[in-house]
Amino acid sequence: MIDQQLREVIRDVPDFPKPGIVFKDITPILKDTYLCNAILDNFMDRLQPDFIDVVAGIESRGFLFGLSLAQRLGKPFVPIRKQGKLPYHTVTQSYNLEYGEAIIEIHEDAFKRGSRVLVHDDLLATGGTVIAASQLIHKLGGTIAGYAFVISLDFLEGKKRLLDYSQQIFSLVSY
Ligand code: PRP
Ligand code: ADE
Repeated sequence: MIDQQLREVIRDVPDFPKPGIVFKDITPILKDTYLCNAILDNFMDRLQPDFIDVVAGIESRGFLFGLSLAQRLGKPFVPIRKQGKLPYHTVTQSYNLEYGEAIIEIHEDAFKRGSRVLVHDDLLATGGTVIAASQLIHKLGGTIAGYAFVISLDFLEGKKRLLDYSQQIFSLVSY
């Protein structure tokens, strides 16, 4: 099972980036080509390409599987980046996450109005990041097709906050 395989390699790093945070380090996954492919296979088993127009991935760890997933789905990939990184005209949203605050942006021509956007990130914690991403998608006239994560920290209850945006939420391993 993918859940067990992921648990075996994801590394807990205590007190990173701040005291009290237990950081889920996914870098060991990236060294395992079998597991990387298994992640994409599992995403494909759970997603319905006919209901997705675009995949949006969030900087930076949301890029690792986001582009590959979009390629497998045969859909365009749109990067949502931290402030000041995207070169063209952007719309912007500030937010809080488990260990801080930040601002993310999307290109104003990222997709057509009415597009159904699958939001991908490596990890769901409080949900602050993907809610900000969802607000950006709404600002551009898109709808949320769903959320696909590798990891969910269920004790932080991010999934509950996402239900206002979509019922289609899944992760491959939960803590
Ligand atoms: C991490 C992670 C998610 C976010 C989740 O990103 O990749 O994007 O935090 O936290 P939340 O659910 O509480 O919002 P981070 O901002 O650390 O950036 P990185 O991907 O560049 O490491
Ligand atoms: N992003 C937010 N919280 C995190 C955590 N505990 N581990 C890794 N990434 C995170």
